[in-house]
Amino acid sequence: MHEQRPEGRPIRSVINLTALRENLRAVRRHAPHARIMAVIKANGYGHGIRRVAEALREADAFGVAGIDEALDLREGGIDHSIVLLEGFFAADELPAIAHHGFSVVVHHETQIEQLVSALQQPLTAWLKIDTGMHRLGFRPRQFETAYRRLKACGSIAAIHFMTHFACADERDNLQTCQQIDVFHALTQNLQGDVSLANSAAILNQPASHSRRGTGKQWVRPGIMLFGVSPFPDEDGERLGLHPVMTLKSRLIAVNACQRGDAIGYGATWRCPEDMRVGVVAAGYGDGYPRSAASGTPVLVKGRRVPLVGRVSMDMLCVDLRACPDAAVGDEVVLWGGGLPVEEVARHAGAIAYELLCGVTPRVRIVEEGG
Ligand SMILES: Cc1ncc(COP(=O)(O)O)c(C=O)c1O
Repeated sequence: MHEQRPEGRPIRSVINLTALRENLRAVRRHAPHARIMAVIKANGYGHGIRRVAEALREADAFGVAGIDEALDLREGGIDHSIVLLEGFFAADELPAIAHHGFSVVVHHETQIEQLVSALQQPLTAWLKIDTGMHRLGFRPRQFETAYRRLKACGSIAAIHFMTHFACADERDNLQTCQQIDVFHALTQNLQGDVSLANSAAILNQPASHSRRGTGKQWVRPGIMLFGVSPFPDEDGERLGLHPVMTLKSRLIAVNACQRGDAIGYGATWRCPEDMRVGVVAAGYGDGYPRSAASGTPVLVKGRRVPLVGRVSMDMLCVDLRACPDAAVGDEVVLWGGGLPVEEVARHAGAIAYELLCGVTPRVRIVEEGG
């Protein structure tokens, strides 16, 4: 007999699929000349990779970190082009990569050697150029040799070119323009598609995705698809984006505390007067950051109240003085609609990317706007 599952702990990650699709349209508006490779690695930035891919079927391709995520998408019935952004990690991945038609980023000499010796079926490669980030990719002085070796490798169906920006989230940082110049100088006379822009560059560096040459231009948005700003000083809503994830829970206790009572582990916060303190079923075991300091905003019944004391594994406490009618069972928003995740991240000394990716598997997901 199928047993109905009880509601259980009230924490939920509510995923708004309409917002996701609207954010994809915002990418198209900002980069009208480009194809969109929606970056949905890390389980779709914590939103569920298959769900996100399904909702973003209008994207031209998906970017994931590696083969596991790509296979997960294929098993979920996603037949789009999929690019493995870290490429392959060993030659034994190549048959599956070719079989499923995945494209791979090639960023290191070792990968070229493996392609030369083991590749048997045609495969599309994105040659990654390190134009200044100094993480993955061939340095400009290594580029020509890498390109020639890859081209000589019989089974490569097409070679495209990409780079990644180190500082695109700093609006006035000249390094982004320098990286664009280096990239164009190396690739302008070569045939192939190109891809430079992440969310910050899509929004702030039109030169990184303008029409160019004969190859197609691709942008690689990640965080903006989820309604979140890539810039430290600006929230997504101000950029015309819509938050996709709302992390919600409920008050599970409301305590009448007295002046001087210390709240939670370590007794780090004391009540300045007699007051009510609410206990919310959300903690770092759910992905709410333990580093969120007293004063971090939380919405109770739509009203902002400050978090008080340390976040524990399953619970956190809030000062209810601004919400005198709050009662057990009332809805609490930890971030999302009405409370930007960027703002919570700032209070936690983190970035919104970390908070979204960090929601743990025990949090049940609810979709809306399907
Ligand atoms: C290579 C690459 N391209 C694009 C992105 C998307 O970046 P963002 O989420 O800032 O748009 C990432 C994310 O880290 C990435 O690693």
